[in-house]
Amino acid sequence: MLINLWYVACFEDEIPEGRPLGVRMLGQDFAVWRTGDGGVACVSNICVHRGGALARGGVRQGHIACPYHGWEFGADGRCRKIPSLGLEGRIPSRARVDAYPVQLKYGMVWVFLGDLPEAERPPLPDCFDAVHGATGWRTVHGRFDYKANWQRVTENGLDTAHVHFVHPAFGNPDAAVVEDAPVREIPWGAVSGHTFTSSEKTQKSGALGEALRESGAAPQGRRKPQSEIQFHMSGLTVMIHQKITPQISQVIFSCKTPVSPTETTTFWVQARNYKLEPEHDEERRRGILTVYEQDAAIVEYLTPEFVPAGMADELSVASDKLPVRFRAMVKELAGRGWEIDARALAQPHDGPARVVPCPARRGEGGWVFDPLPLRAR
Ligand code: FES
Ligand SMILES: [Fe+2]
Repeated sequence: MLINLWYVACFEDEIPEGRPLGVRMLGQDFAVWRTGDGGVACVSNICVHRGGALARGGVRQGHIACPYHGWEFGADGRCRKIPSLGLEGRIPSRARVDAYPVQLKYGMVWVFLGDLPEAERPPLPDCFDAVHGATGWRTVHGRFDYKANWQRVTENGLDTAHVHFVHPAFGNPDAAVVEDAPVREIPWGAVSGHTFTSSEKTQKSGALGEALRESGAAPQGRRKPQSEIQFHMSGLTVMIHQKITPQISQVIFSCKTPVSPTETTTFWVQARNYKLEPEHDEERRRGILTVYEQDAAIVEYLTPEFVPAGMADELSVASDKLPVRFRAMVKELAGRGWEIDARALAQPHDGPARVVPCPARRGEGGWVFDPLPLRAR
């Protein structure tokens, strides 16, 4: 798992009023809360006093309060109050927890898990800007938990050859050739395409089927849906823009958050430009979940569980270009020393707690906890 990237912690609408939300990412625990000024803050969950779980505490005047002895921490991670010392008590300078940069975009809470200064952090993706919240589009959103590794899950999202075999409702196993599509690199990601001839056997049902019939679209078997598929390392985002006909489109924007090495949560938003009435939302939501369940039935059973280290350790072919590009980019970032050393972390350890280092650690000493071990390159 990589530090120094933005990850989606949760949807904005999942954070309760007046109390924190506990979130697990990269095998670590975090606390997310509303600061009361419209903002959202995120800190490491471990209290520097006696290891209290901050997310199990409360929110007081925009600060997070530890449930054990009531120490309060601000959005910058600095302790503002130690109730046992009274009003005049001096707060030690080491009374601070790691606090992470937060941005709100597309209804999601994005947290930068690392210590890079602002100028060196990757930007958030902007590929969904033209659609999310735009007139003529309607969105539904949700999350899906995989018992699978984040790299396996993300590569699955970029894999065009599997749709014909795993997703009978929109693939076509009788015409499974993946037309060669160039991969175009973009900053922190890459874009490619996928075109196929729809299957005559699977009539579209639901809101999409109705929209297609009403629009007088060509019948099944004569349509050639075109998709643009891209990834962005921020949020481990995969976006698929499906142009089912020139008029009818849907976009699935999804972010893959590593919960642990073997668990991944996909935070997804689906936008559609047809059947905008809310009564179709539930059916669209179910459609997405069906697709993710079909993917889970594959990616939760891959061997090895983790993507192997060498690019030649599995056999790739021309239709794997986009997932291979993602695999290469992960390797490149791991080569910068951003990969958590899972083996070192698993060793017995009796020192201080270890946390994802936050940007304030650059140049500032006096931290109680240690940074997570990273793999030297
Ligand atoms: S453990 Fe958090 S205040 Fe004591
Ligand atoms: Fe899939």
